[in-house]
Amino acid sequence: MAAGTLTHRSRLLPALIVLLAMNLQRAAGEEPFTPLATGFSGQIAAGTALFLPSGLTLETMPASLALLQRPRPSGPLVADYPLQPAFSRSGSRSRVTLAVPRGTSLYGTGEVTGPLLRNGRTIALWNTDNFQYEADGGRRLYQSHPWVLGVRPDGSAFGMIADSTWAAELSLGDGIVFTSDGPPFPVIIIDLGSPQDVMRGLAAMIGTIPLPPRWALGYQQCRWSYHPAARVQAIADEFRRRRIPCDVIWMDIDYMDGFRVFTFNPSEFPDPRGLDGYLHNLGFKSIWMIDPGVKVDAGYRVYNSGSEGDVWVHDAKGAPFQGGVWPGACVFPDFTRPETRSWWAANYREFMAQGVDGVWNDMNEPSVFDGPDKTMPRDNWHRGGGVLPPGPHAQYHNAYGMLMARSTREGIAAANPAKRPFVLTRSNFLGGQRYAATWTGDNASTWDFLKMAVPMTLNLGLSGQPFNGPDLGGFAGNPTPELWGQWVAMGVFFPFCRGHAVKGSVDKEPWAFGPEVESAARIALDRRYRLLPYIYTLFYQSSLDGSPVMDPVFFADIRDAALRAEDQAFLLGEDMLVVPRWADHPHLPGGIWRSVSLVEGDRGDKYQVDLKVRGGAIVPLGRVIQNTTEESLDPLTLLVSLDSRGRASGRLFEDAGDGYGYEDGDYLLTSYQAETRGETVVVTTERAEGRRPRPNRTIVIEIVTESGTFRGSGIDGQPIIVPLHQVRT
Ligand code: GLC
Repeated sequence: MAAGTLTHRSRLLPALIVLLAMNLQRAAGEEPFTPLATGFSGQIAAGTALFLPSGLTLETMPASLALLQRPRPSGPLVADYPLQPAFSRSGSRSRVTLAVPRGTSLYGTGEVTGPLLRNGRTIALWNTDNFQYEADGGRRLYQSHPWVLGVRPDGSAFGMIADSTWAAELSLGDGIVFTSDGPPFPVIIIDLGSPQDVMRGLAAMIGTIPLPPRWALGYQQCRWSYHPAARVQAIADEFRRRRIPCDVIWMDIDYMDGFRVFTFNPSEFPDPRGLDGYLHNLGFKSIWMIDPGVKVDAGYRVYNSGSEGDVWVHDAKGAPFQGGVWPGACVFPDFTRPETRSWWAANYREFMAQGVDGVWNDMNEPSVFDGPDKTMPRDNWHRGGGVLPPGPHAQYHNAYGMLMARSTREGIAAANPAKRPFVLTRSNFLGGQRYAATWTGDNASTWDFLKMAVPMTLNLGLSGQPFNGPDLGGFAGNPTPELWGQWVAMGVFFPFCRGHAVKGSVDKEPWAFGPEVESAARIALDRRYRLLPYIYTLFYQSSLDGSPVMDPVFFADIRDAALRAEDQAFLLGEDMLVVPRWADHPHLPGGIWRSVSLVEGDRGDKYQVDLKVRGGAIVPLGRVIQNTTEESLDPLTLLVSLDSRGRASGRLFEDAGDGYGYEDGDYLLTSYQAETRGETVVVTTERAEGRRPRPNRTIVIEIVTESGTFRGSGIDGQPIIVPLHQVRT
């Protein structure tokens, strides 16, 4: 199948776009891009088409780091496929241009500053250690996602993957223009019904998140750095003493011996196993940082074993490249090599044996303090191996963090085969959600950063990375109590929920801002913990089909033009709407949305977001617990919000919370249903999947209505009848 399968109309359009672009460049004095014919086009999945510029064939197209597998065409491009990319070239640069219908709303493009709606924005794809997003006006951050989601005025949607890891620019003007510094690349277009369908279509191409361990959905406390070990213990004790829920304490770089990765400071952390044991006894997990830079030090085992196998990235002359990071001069593993990845992964065996629960990979853009543009030279050399060809750093830079996270994940999975790995990475690439969760780097404790966190987390979710969130409270600088309180009240509804603080800043634990904010933080975190059964079910769904966990408000009504730019309020799954206190005239979806209370005091508290549940939804809630090692589902509460026909439904996924039993059926996925019959509501178990036995437990029903909440209870698995004329609160 060649370009001959294109219709006349669709062949003309790309040529016109390229001509237009050429004129614009001439005006701007750039070397013009000349058209490059489409050499191949064909369907690779429902609604999904692959386009190759001439010169690339199915056989010669490069191995993809983003895609799950090499695309295999199932047939010619369907007649009148609505979108036709136009390829062009200028010197060593390559471009794809995609015309989009007037009125199309554009989203995605990964980790970006600015609003949710991306129309009119230009970003650079060049992973950058960008403290406070200051470099390059925040046009490039730590990750690259060459992906755009388009939603037409009628709500139908499409997306485009430009499958290249090279440095690039992504410009969203009247259309989509992706310009790479590298050779021509494949383009995949997904044209399916709704934006939600397109996200599932994207997941079919790039995969999904693996189901995380349940503890990773709890609250996490970090600082650069809690040290020595006694300070870590004191922080953990304080959470329990004050009854503020928390699941994880994080160890930043100061635990290491002179910033040497895979070592522990002998005076401050002499007994990491003991510290992990202490945390485990209190129901905490521990996450420890590992950076890519390995200190050049002839007396250091990791440096020596790496040098023996020459696992390092080379400079242009073929010698191991050295650059400065925290420990001083470092060498950097060349993660494009399978041998390096196995060597790196093997380092985790002994490390994890200290009782470490999760790993935090930072500085992996990679950040090189004394390198050009704060990274390594573009002509450094990666030797590749397996399906990855050798190539310059310019080619692999954007994939460095992703390949590191992949190797880390493999290492900790091998060290603890019965557990689900948890990796957090700062740098990543499209498809990297398969290996690690992420946070959005070094933000600051300001109102602007608080507000920006919503569209940034949403756009990452719309780029295939649902498991992400900002440093709650802001990393750099000192927040006011008011700001920190607002931030935690909102942040507990983000998929990844961790407080962090830069070295030298004020304390930023939930109790550090006085009793009023401490109480607000407790209420907010209690709300998250009550919602964990719902959030875990969302993560389960996401692991199956790539649905984002935190959704833009327009997902609730894809035809309502007023919602397209809303990025103060957001959805948590389909059923919960989060409206932060600070939101200024947010556009909210029509239909029934009822404000709910989840814990005592949340309605009256000045920090708490307005939390609304969709009419027609049943949301499963657990008890308030201090961490996820506590049993929370007896009683199980079902929050019922009836639709206009007096009905509602919802799902609950439950399993062991860790390990892989669920893959063999050891889980229970229950669909609950509520129906109004006369003056009562009857709640039943509509369907169940999985072979985990139904726990013998109490179910509390709370029916939220405009005239108060009606309550009833019964036994899970049996119909429960709640009269609508009785006690209400
Ligand atoms: C980087 C990280 C930050 C961490 C610090 C020290 O700035 O982004 O989260 O605390 O390095 O490791």
